[in-house]
Amino acid sequence: MMQTPIAESDESSKLTLNSVKALIQMAQNYPGGFWSNLLSDNPRRAVKTFIECYSRPSLTWDDLSFLRSLTDLPIILKGILNPDDARKAIDCNMDGIIVSNHGGRQVDGAISSMEALPAIADEVGSNIPVLLDSGIRSGGDIFKALALGADAVLLGRPYVYALALGGEQGVRELIQNYRADFELTMGLSGCQFTNQIARDHLKAI
Ligand SMILES: Cc1cc2nc3c(=O)[nH]c(=O)nc-3n(C[C@H](O)[C@H](O)[C@H](O)COP(=O)(O)O)c2cc1C
Repeated sequence: MMQTPIAESDESSKLTLNSVKALIQMAQNYPGGFWSNLLSDNPRRAVKTFIECYSRPSLTWDDLSFLRSLTDLPIILKGILNPDDARKAIDCNMDGIIVSNHGGRQVDGAISSMEALPAIADEVGSNIPVLLDSGIRSGGDIFKALALGADAVLLGRPYVYALALGGEQGVRELIQNYRADFELTMGLSGCQFTNQIARDHLKAI
């Protein structure tokens, strides 16, 4: 993704090598012909709109209360890695949280969601569902997440890869394989039901 800020000021609209590169990249990637895109303002405006929508550093926890007031639909807050934030999510009347580092794509060296999970699960208790994603690649990973306090896990890249390789059927097979691997792990760990999966199934190192 191109992250070059699209600023409006005279100072930052000076032509530099980087700004020319960015213009060319935008003209190449925007739908339509390269030369007409290069002369048009639309690619630059599209990137600017995307950047404004994608990243809003001005958002605060108060915006969640505002969001809550707009809808009765469940709101699941994603990206929680800290027990204090999990508590805030409960206080803001969120219906659930997703413990996630967004697949490790945001901050290099961020804590893994699995490492963050136990303290968050302890903080949340049975107040709201705790989901987890980032790095779930096997039935064993699902088992570990449930043992550490998750109610369910989510898949990101694996289902997209399956979709790319095998379409709808590919995704079905992926889910079946995860499920079979998970059930096998449960069986080999002596668990008949998911509510039997407990932390003491894992050995602390
Ligand atoms: C290409 C790509 C784009 C993503 N964009 C977003 C995003 O805009 N917002 C977000 O919360 N998470 C985003 N994610 C993270 C996923 O929602 C999800 O948390 C992550 O992929 C789960 O980890 P996994 O891929 O290891 O299963 C993105 C992930 C990928 C691979």
